[in-house]
Amino acid sequence: MEIDIEALIAAAQKAAEHAYSPYSHYRVGAALLAADGAVHAGCNVENASYGLTICAERAAVFKAVGEGVRKFKALALVAGTSGRPGTPCGACRQVLAEFCDPGMPVVCAALDGTVTLRTTVGELLPHGFTPASGMVE
Ligand code: THU
Repeated sequence: MEIDIEALIAAAQKAAEHAYSPYSHYRVGAALLAADGAVHAGCNVENASYGLTICAERAAVFKAVGEGVRKFKALALVAGTSGRPGTPCGACRQVLAEFCDPGMPVVCAALDGTVTLRTTVGELLPHGFTPASGMVE
């Protein structure tokens, strides 16, 4: 099935509208396309205790997993401006690698939807420590 990246970016833009970022004023929206075709979106949620902030990507992954969804086909991320592409932070790359195949496409776009980077989970976290590395059973 063809992935509708435009629709996924639109879902990420909608999520970014809900960003709670009174400290950084940096809005981020993430939309994960699940294997069943459903879209799970999240935004960054900041906190007066800054370190408790959660990124949009992890918010989207955790929301989906909490609904029993663990297989994903694509991620769209919107943040920042077209001149300065927003990409997933290191912590989010690690969380994405837990649930997504290395070949899964990740499309980064500015808040206006202009695509700034097309990459994959594996390119974002080369040589990562994944479930395959960590399984002890
Ligand atoms: N942020 C994300 O939502 N995703 C990332 O991958 C990078 C950073 C958020 C966290 C914080 O609310 C704001 O962007 C500035 O760091």
